[in-house]
Amino acid sequence: MRKTALIAVAVLLGSTVAAQAKAASEEAAPAPAASPAAAAAAEAFGSNWESWRSGNSVADLASLQRGARNFLNYCNGCHSLKYMRYSRIAQDLQISPELLQKFLVPATRKPTDYIQTAMPEAQAAAWFGKQPPDLSLMARERGTDYIYRFLTTFYVDPTRQTGANNLQLPTTAMPDVLSELGGVKRAVFKTVTQSDGTKEQVFDHFEMLASGSLTREQYNGFVRDTVNFLDYVGEPAQVHRRALGVWVVLFLLVFTWLAYLLKKEYWKDVH
Ligand code: HEC
Repeated sequence: MRKTALIAVAVLLGSTVAAQAKAASEEAAPAPAASPAAAAAAEAFGSNWESWRSGNSVADLASLQRGARNFLNYCNGCHSLKYMRYSRIAQDLQISPELLQKFLVPATRKPTDYIQTAMPEAQAAAWFGKQPPDLSLMARERGTDYIYRFLTTFYVDPTRQTGANNLQLPTTAMPDVLSELGGVKRAVFKTVTQSDGTKEQVFDHFEMLASGSLTREQYNGFVRDTVNFLDYVGEPAQVHRRALGVWVVLFLLVFTWLAYLLKKEYWKDVH
């Protein structure tokens, strides 16, 4: 019996470690294209954008810390996180009060304040034709893959007021705010004839017009970290809950084993 319990614990530990190792390796390097066909598709940059996944993990603390920095530097100018306080982020993501004050909290705000944006509401609507939404619950509403694809599929479109368009959210009011990092790309369309004879322009692939300060992998990592942070913000307790879950299951297993031994002890003279 003792052996079975031990094996159960070992299997449990093994599977969590394996899952973590898998997550880590996926993070480090995207799986190589399996077939020549997949490799060809990967060459036409963006042709498979609908299958792009965020691949983020809220268990990755360093990624969450980078994501917090990214958000406050690149998104907070327009977007708020009205249900989140600076101090809560520091506590959950293990950022020291000194670093928090120095790098993350604006001079005019306190660590216990909610994360508002400096953008005046009336002007935001006038500038973009739309209020940039609060992003506290956006990852739960739209999903992390959606936001990942939204931030990676901006392209130049001179017919738009912002000069940019997006595959995930066509005619979006959001400008391509990360072009300095990710570069500027053009969308190449192809003409497809429908069964009824009408012709339609369909997106085919992206072409880089100018590269940004990051390589494509680095840029994808930047977006993954940012999405990861928004995933955490959507449900802050999940960081602790997931870590706790493993211990709860272990405790239950050990306790079951003890209860079994106790039962055997009590019933050993009853025949
Ligand atoms: C210059 C202002 C500005 C900045 C900076 C900005 N956004 Fe936006 N964002 C907008 C506007 C405006 C919208 C509304 C777009 C729409 O509904 O078409 C928006 C919408 C969004 C949406 C919602 C899309 C949807 O489906 O409704 C997400 C997600 C988002 N932004 C993420 C980000 C992230 C992440 C950053 C930082 C990397 C960022 N934004 C930076 C202006 C901005």
